[in-house]
Amino acid sequence: MAFSKQEVIEIYRRRAGWYDVSANLYYLIGFREAAYRKKAVAALRLQPGETVVELGCGTGLNFSYLQEAIGPTGRIVGVDLTDQMLKAAQGRVLRNGWSNVELVCADASLYEFPQRVDGVLSTFALTLLPDYDAVIRRGSNALSQGGRFVILDFRKPENTPEWLLKLMLLITKPFGVTLDLAERHPWESVARYFSASEMREHFMGFVYVARGEAA
Ligand SMILES: C[S@@+](CC[C@H](N)C(=O)[O-])C[C@H]1O[C@@H](n2cnc3c(N)ncnc32)[C@H](O)[C@@H]1O
Repeated sequence: MAFSKQEVIEIYRRRAGWYDVSANLYYLIGFREAAYRKKAVAALRLQPGETVVELGCGTGLNFSYLQEAIGPTGRIVGVDLTDQMLKAAQGRVLRNGWSNVELVCADASLYEFPQRVDGVLSTFALTLLPDYDAVIRRGSNALSQGGRFVILDFRKPENTPEWLLKLMLLITKPFGVTLDLAERHPWESVARYFSASEMREHFMGFVYVARGEAA
């Protein structure tokens, strides 16, 4: 059964201190985490000076890629449920001397988007939200014309061998992933709420980047 909101907070409070290191361990199985992040940020097609909201930003592992795209005149709003993950993100912001990042401790399901948003990003987070569909709908409404919504996340590919599925579950369980999350299909919500959408699969179909553009 999927973890409750409070359980998710507890999981990520425990993980926050070593989240960045543990995320890198996935390289051992050929999971090219940084490459997928770069693809997701590239799919946002951000321009210098633009505003991007990242839902479930965690420790801010995408921030450097976002900064490269928006430059010092742009703005990043990082939203996350877990205080300790945001504390790590705050450390990253201070270490890098970024003055254009705002961190918000909030449930993305209840978060009210700011005015004038050009891009919304969520990586390895949206599937954890039971009401991801409503979040994507509200994101599509918040985006200005031509705004982009991009999701990078895990999914269960069709016809996955049982052993491979079990292995994937084992290695993602420490991050709150359970088998019933496979029933959640955020990429379908992107296709539903955006006039133009696309999805690309990676890592044997276990990872996808979905992109929607607001009309
Ligand atoms: C696997 S981590 C991903 C963090 C980051 N996006 C990354 O790619 O490294 C999932 C993050 O989603 C956050 N999260 C889970 N449920 C959330 C919710 N309802 N609202 C906001 N953040 C949430 C967790 O606190 C955690 O930081």
